[in-house]
Amino acid sequence: MTPFVQVDLIIKNAVELLTLSPFFREESGLGIIHHGGVAMREGKIFWIGKTDGFPEALVLKPGGQEIDAIGKVVMPGLIDSHTHLIFAGSREHEFEQRIEGLSYLEIAERGGGILSTVEATRKASFDELFSLGKKRLDRMLSKGVTTIEAKSGYGLSLKDELKILEVMKALKENPTIDIVPTFLGAHTVPKEFRHDRARYVDLLTEEMIPKVAEEGLAEFCDIFCEEKAFSLKESRKVLETGKRYGLKPKIHADQLSSGGGAELAAEIGAISADHLEYISETGIERMAEKGVTAVLLPGASFFLAMKRFPPARELIEKGVAVSLATDLNPGSSMTESLPLMMTMGCTMFKMTPREVIQATTIHAARSMGRENEIGSLEIGKKADVLVIDVPNYRYLPYHFGVDHVECVIKRGKVVYQRPT
Ligand code: NIG
Ligand code: FE
Repeated sequence: MTPFVQVDLIIKNAVELLTLSPFFREESGLGIIHHGGVAMREGKIFWIGKTDGFPEALVLKPGGQEIDAIGKVVMPGLIDSHTHLIFAGSREHEFEQRIEGLSYLEIAERGGGILSTVEATRKASFDELFSLGKKRLDRMLSKGVTTIEAKSGYGLSLKDELKILEVMKALKENPTIDIVPTFLGAHTVPKEFRHDRARYVDLLTEEMIPKVAEEGLAEFCDIFCEEKAFSLKESRKVLETGKRYGLKPKIHADQLSSGGGAELAAEIGAISADHLEYISETGIERMAEKGVTAVLLPGASFFLAMKRFPPARELIEKGVAVSLATDLNPGSSMTESLPLMMTMGCTMFKMTPREVIQATTIHAARSMGRENEIGSLEIGKKADVLVIDVPNYRYLPYHFGVDHVECVIKRGKVVYQRPT
């Protein structure tokens, strides 16, 4: 007699089940199983295959749930690989100033920009930041996001950066979205150090990084490497220090000008280089050689009405793994919608529907060193799964600005159901 195994949740009949697994090879490149099914047990994927082949030995445990995904697409939870989740205040007046013709840098020079958000965030209490963060996470969840990378960077003092990272830690208790924290104390030089930037770099390397690492509050260390923020030399120093303390490097590189940030990412073994509007040819080659993931942020290009886009096609053709993310922040990309970034990735960056799906699942997982846990539907991986009310995968970026996600499953439990 076959021994029965109890599972917690079963999905059957998906018109397309996008595994994103390299083991299900077929022409779409997304590892599609037509008429697919999944079984989940103890928070992990336990079985996956054609609904017709569903093993008789798998039975739903008492109180378990079965979802009929007939006519719908099932895929891994989306991963937002670059967000500035925690900040207070908003900057809609700058949005208007940009419409009237001022540039992002001109606004920053007039006292707006990152520093104005730093002021608001310093004033905000832990509880205020927590509830702002929670609201943003709830919005992301309704778009199908199950994991995010989140950066500090609006505190820029030891106390305020710790406050932001502590808020993220508290939000991690939230069972719906996993948060991978990044220390971005090097977002810009705060105003009290305007005339002595070297001292701020010392504060970062001698006090902030050691403390953040000691408290285990971040996994990555990021820096805004840009003419108007931190130089290549400062970036190397900060990121090398982070590495010594066990924080893996990431870089905001070549966003507003070509500064060699992508080359630096390759040189120091960064896990990702992000933005890349002005990346050089050498930068592309070095990233490909060293396997640095490119995190592209179409929301920022769109919101700042940038004339120049990152060379997504060339990156892909040269073998760089490309991820797309929201860059959620109050200045350059005020959105929680990763599906919208998928559409923009297609129309603005000329990525295909297949590529934008990879960019927000398996490549996003790779940009945060999580490719063995999430980003594809494979036996033993986390059961982070979406049921999407679309007839095929191409339809998802095609019908934009609309919430197609019907159900979000996090670690084998339904955590969001679209209101009917
Ligand atoms: O990723 N590039 C630097 N940081 C943000 C913008 C931050 C802000 O304007 O508040 C970005 O685009
Ligand atoms: Fe950013």
